[in-house]
Amino acid sequence: SIPVDKVQALASKDMKDIPIRYIRPEIESEEILVDESLQIPVIDISKLTVAGQPGYDDELAKLHVACRDWGFFQLINHGISETIDAMKKDTEEFFKLPLEEKMKCAQLPSTIEGYGQAFVVSEEQQLDWGDMLFLIPLPVSLRNLRFWPQNPNSFRKTLDEYSNKLYGVSMKLFKLISINLGIEPEAIGKLFENCTQGIRMNYYPPCREACKVLGLAPHSDATGLTLLVQVNEVQGLQIKKNSKWVTIKPIPGSIIVNVGDVIEIMSNGDYSSIEHRAVVDVEKERLSIAAFHTPGLEAMIGPLPELVKEKMPKYKTIDVPEYLRLIINSKLDGKCLIDHMKI
Ligand code: SIN
Ligand code: FE2
Repeated sequence: SIPVDKVQALASKDMKDIPIRYIRPEIESEEILVDESLQIPVIDISKLTVAGQPGYDDELAKLHVACRDWGFFQLINHGISETIDAMKKDTEEFFKLPLEEKMKCAQLPSTIEGYGQAFVVSEEQQLDWGDMLFLIPLPVSLRNLRFWPQNPNSFRKTLDEYSNKLYGVSMKLFKLISINLGIEPEAIGKLFENCTQGIRMNYYPPCREACKVLGLAPHSDATGLTLLVQVNEVQGLQIKKNSKWVTIKPIPGSIIVNVGDVIEIMSNGDYSSIEHRAVVDVEKERLSIAAFHTPGLEAMIGPLPELVKEKMPKYKTIDVPEYLRLIINSKLDGKCLIDHMKI
């Protein structure tokens, strides 16, 4: 990975012009492509605790539609608000620290973990208007604590609990998704038993020419399920729907969930991952925290055999290490990973 400037530091300078590598000519003229009339479904997970409870069937059906037609939904009544609030607070405090303090957790040239930028693979690559702290809390045995902040001093404990609670919510969702796909309730969850979980804390500084840059370029998530929380009230996440960008309006306290490429592949295309991007604000900084879940290293990634009995598989089957190599070698670009996996 090629080292680039911290955007937070860049944004605080009194620059006349935004450096050219951040400018995206393609987005300047596309105001008309934003659709403000649509909103993603809201799923109340407290109605999905036990089969047969009041509202269960309706909510399960709503979840199916959300996964099939949207690939994105907001989850409410998840019962882990305290843990989320603690993580938001520690994330805000981390990014407020002076640069030299944050640099104690800086990425190394050969690592994806740490404080820095998403993979920069060439000198020509356009850059995102944002910094991140990326950590891999699961599996526990592979934690690289050298990248875990000790300032604020509650950070490590908070992240440990956050990792655990978000994994728990993902496992509940994998079970409900399996039921909706008509397969064994544990069919998907068991592939995520030794899950690799990555947590990416995003910091997008304000940008005077916000309409010319992107906080995060359009991409679908290569992983299974992503659970995203908004740290402050500043909007910025947009998803692609019917060739237009839909701005997500987060419900305070909700978790935004999205179907990643792995679920698209496992469901043999019944569900599909959705392209999304982050835009930035002219005046306000924006922070978000994304948790990605990938199947355990021993799992295979491909259409689930029980879903292709009478149909043709639409995607290849490969092992997780090979899949991870594909992720690392491709820069974020639309649904590029799915293109590699299609038969
Ligand atoms: C992401 O796509 O990983 C995060 C987008 C956001 O900041 O909302
Ligand atoms: Fe994403």
